[in-house]
Amino acid sequence: MTSAPTASLTRLPRTDLEVLPLNLGGNTFGWTSDRETSFAVLDAFVAAGGSFIDTADAYAAWAEGSEGGDSETVLGEWFEARGNREEIVLATKVGAKPSRTGLSAANVEAALDESLERLRTDRIDLYYAHYDDEEVSIEEQVRIADGLVRSGRVRHLGLSNFSPERMREWFEVATREGLTVPVAIQPHYNLLARAAYEKDYAPIAREFDAAVMPYFSLASGLLTGKYRTKEDLEGRARKGMVEDNLTEDALAVVDVLTEVAATHDAEPASVAIAWLLAKGTTAPIASASTPEQLPALLAGTALELSAQDVAALDEASAPFA
Ligand SMILES: NC(=O)c1ccc[n+]([C@@H]2O[C@H](COP(=O)([O-])OP(=O)(O)OC[C@H]3O[C@@H](n4cnc5c(N)ncnc54)[C@H](OP(=O)(O)O)[C@@H]3O)[C@@H](O)[C@H]2O)c1
Repeated sequence: MTSAPTASLTRLPRTDLEVLPLNLGGNTFGWTSDRETSFAVLDAFVAAGGSFIDTADAYAAWAEGSEGGDSETVLGEWFEARGNREEIVLATKVGAKPSRTGLSAANVEAALDESLERLRTDRIDLYYAHYDDEEVSIEEQVRIADGLVRSGRVRHLGLSNFSPERMREWFEVATREGLTVPVAIQPHYNLLARAAYEKDYAPIAREFDAAVMPYFSLASGLLTGKYRTKEDLEGRARKGMVEDNLTEDALAVVDVLTEVAATHDAEPASVAIAWLLAKGTTAPIASASTPEQLPALLAGTALELSAQDVAALDEASAPFA
């Protein structure tokens, strides 16, 4: 594994948190990466200057025999083994763990304490509502989340997978009531999923000065260029996440990604991340199943695309915009 040059740190708006603009995805820990491999990925990420880790209490509940909590448990063991919790900016999420669904006050209180226990820490740096809970009014959600911050167990708030209308309402209510305003949103955004973010969520992030951490930065691996046919997906853990996206339009994007990458002597995955940064996002989220996959992700943070590169990628991905 070679080390890759990386970008300088970026500050999350309205916080004192400074991070390398790559948010390491944690849904692999305890799923496609066993404990030892997870530790190796985490060690390599930190050695390269990374500090920002994204997980959720629900990860990886979809894996056979799992009830969720696996990723947080691995992370907690790693913090303890390395004694490095203070050096990490830790994001986790609430609302989707099968035994702790929803955003009611009682559920969120219990879920947070369970996350802290698994993570072997006393605070979360960035706590996201993973999904909206339409049975809980936005006023109530804002009040509950503000209480978590006031308790000292949560430093900052974030929102993921809300409708644009309910997300906007969240920011408006928190601002109007003088309660804790989220500092980040986590949208599904990449070269094959552009429309919702660009039309509906980017304006909200701009208006309320929120950081943007796009998830599925690599379209679950499709934007690394390693899947060209349905056969390439056989036996792969992410088959179900990739197969519907493996279309002619998507492969045309991968072709341009590969061409642009070649002109920079880079990997397509690096260009996919560089494009998200060129679009003004704060720290794209991508995961690595092995330490060997990491350098391409890290290199994306330092890769400067020309206006021509971005225009070519925009044009190829126009069917998704
Ligand atoms: N808020 C939400 O609702 C939400 C939803 C989804 C994800 N997320 C977050 O976003 C993170 C990223 O999502 P994701 O991991 O599903 O998708 P992703 O980042 O788009 O894809 C990552 C996967 O691509 C493959 N890969 C990465 N680097 C590679 C390389 N250099 N060469 C070849 N293959 C490479 C690996 O999978 P294989 O080794 O299996 O091929 C890796 O696990 C998650 O961990 C999670 O933190 C959030």
